[in-house]
Amino acid sequence: MNSMNLDLSAVLLDEHRIQARVREIGAQIAMEYKDTVPVLIGIMKGGFMFLADLCRSITIPLELDFMAVSSYNGGTSSSGAVKIRKDIDTNIEGRHVIVVEDIVDSGLSLSYIREYLLNHSPASLKICVLLDKPGAHKMEALFDYVGFQIENDFVVGYGLDYKNLYRNLPYIGILKEEIYS
Ligand code: PRP
Repeated sequence: MNSMNLDLSAVLLDEHRIQARVREIGAQIAMEYKDTVPVLIGIMKGGFMFLADLCRSITIPLELDFMAVSSYNGGTSSSGAVKIRKDIDTNIEGRHVIVVEDIVDSGLSLSYIREYLLNHSPASLKICVLLDKPGAHKMEALFDYVGFQIENDFVVGYGLDYKNLYRNLPYIGILKEEIYS
C-alpha cells in the first residue's frame, strides 16, 4: 500500500477511472484538431501528470509548452493573487492553443491565464481541465473539456498537492482534515 494513503479519508478517483477518462478526452482532441498542429500548454506544477498522460493519448502531431502559475503558495486557500513563475517560450500568435490544467477551484488562475494568453493573439484558445469544483467557483469559469466534476473537498494526488506533497500519487484522494487543519 502507498504510505501516503494513510493521510487520505477516501480515494475519490482511482487510476483506472482517471486513465479511461484521459484517453477519451485525448481521442476527442485528436479528432477535433486533426487538420492542425495544436500547442498544448501545461500549467505547472499541478498539471504535469495530466499533461503527460493526455499528450500521449493524442494521436496527432502537437507542440508542448509550459507555464508555471501559482496562487496558493502551498496552502489550502488561494492568496487571491496569481503569479506567473514561468512563461511560455512558444510564439502562439495564430496558433491553436489548448491549456491543460489540473483543477478549477475558485476559477481565478484560469481566468488570469485565459486573459494572458488571449493577449498573445492565438488563432483559437481552448481550456482542458481534469477536475472542476463547481461549488468553489468565485467567478465565471470558462473551459471546453473537463474530466470530472467533484464536490468541494480538498483533493490531492495525480499532480495536485498540499504543501508540495502528494503530487506523485497515481490517483486522486480526499485529504484528511486533520492533516491541514
Ligand atoms: C492550483 C491548481 C490550479 C489552481 C486552481 O495551483 O494547480 O492552477 O490552484 O485554483 P483556483 O481555481 O482557485 O485558481 P497552485 O496555485 O496551488 O500551484 P501548483 O499548481 O504549483 O500547485
